[in-house]
Amino acid sequence: MPRLENIGCLATCASPSQQDDIGLVRDAALVWRDDLVRWAGPAAALPPEYLEEPAWDAGGRLVIPGLVDAHTHLAFGGWRAGEFADRIRGRGYLEIAADGGGIASTVRATRALDEATLLQRAGRFLSEMVSLGITTVEAKSGYGLDLETELTLLRVYRRLDKRGPARIVPTCLAAHVVPREWAADRAGYVDLVVDEILPAVAAEGLADFVDVFVEDGAFSADEARRICARGRALGLRAKLHVDQLSGGGGAELAAEVEAVSADHLECVSEAGIAALAEARVVAVTLPLATLYLDQAPPPARALIDAGVAVAVASDFNPGTAPSYHLPFALTLACARQRMTPAEALKGATRYAARAVGLEGTVGSLQPGAAADFALIDAPDVEHWLYHLRPNACTATVIGGTVRYGTVPGA
Ligand code: NIG
Ligand code: FE
Repeated sequence: MPRLENIGCLATCASPSQQDDIGLVRDAALVWRDDLVRWAGPAAALPPEYLEEPAWDAGGRLVIPGLVDAHTHLAFGGWRAGEFADRIRGRGYLEIAADGGGIASTVRATRALDEATLLQRAGRFLSEMVSLGITTVEAKSGYGLDLETELTLLRVYRRLDKRGPARIVPTCLAAHVVPREWAADRAGYVDLVVDEILPAVAAEGLADFVDVFVEDGAFSADEARRICARGRALGLRAKLHVDQLSGGGGAELAAEVEAVSADHLECVSEAGIAALAEARVVAVTLPLATLYLDQAPPPARALIDAGVAVAVASDFNPGTAPSYHLPFALTLACARQRMTPAEALKGATRYAARAVGLEGTVGSLQPGAAADFALIDAPDVEHWLYHLRPNACTATVIGGTVRYGTVPGA
């Protein structure tokens, strides 16, 4: 039963309420047995029975729950740097998509790769994420858009989850866009998703959630209702991409279908904010996508004031957010979404865990939670997110095992 001592500042994020309550403890200690936390609190209050145990030394650092990235598109083929430059020259995201670029171009590149190559690429991204202090990653399919390739992407996630180091929460996003071969028969593609892809995914137990990109050029609210209803009948709760490029009642739709989260929300309306609060849907904000698309940020303050839990995730994907640097996304959430560093941290731990159905299990450090935590070379949370560095994380521990860096005594 090891303990971590000499923690300068511990953020337990143990409280389920209040976006800015991160359960700060100065001069703290943390004890775990096997892969679960046993005790967390002020070192001075450590029960004597734990003093016998081997001690790891945090060196006075900040210790946070392992970060939870609640929205990524982790497995895909190719990149789209040319589109990045095109958008800077003035071409729009939807204009590029209408010309066969965008998601469709990543679908072509993804279908061209086999499962082993997709696994190798996603595994490389994942180990770098772990080095940043990330321990749980929600990962969406959505660049296959046919039965076989969607299953392949989700099998990659299952293999990654088994192999580690991080925990993976898989989501089926077969309803990302209508693929080219179905362009003349979009109803036929929705039928394929509902009648074949989702049942096959559920039969193999390959996903925990179903997601739909609700937008002009992607799927309508009615199509999303059908897909979410089928998902629900198969045991998959909804997570939705909504109100990203245009506001069209997406948040209200997320509330209506009892989605666990509504993601993006740059264009959410006041009524949408109220609907999210009422239905207790987590708002997942994605500051990297907002930045790369040069949009006005989502109204995080209004969401928090309305009582909505606001998560912050990377949206890692080759188009709108080609980075998995979640700590950078947190700094952006502070600077652009006007969230305090404490609010941003809660959004990438406890509330991110809520957005992936794992609240209380990961994303917080209280007895019974997973012993997933990161050592950060900063005196406190404010300093960490203020002084942006390539990587301030010195060690990442998952299930009580050091998976990145070193901890003296471990
Ligand atoms: O979350 N909005 C839809 N999907 C992704 C973008 C995917 C892409 O451009 O490849 C997103 O921003
Ligand atoms: Fe996304």
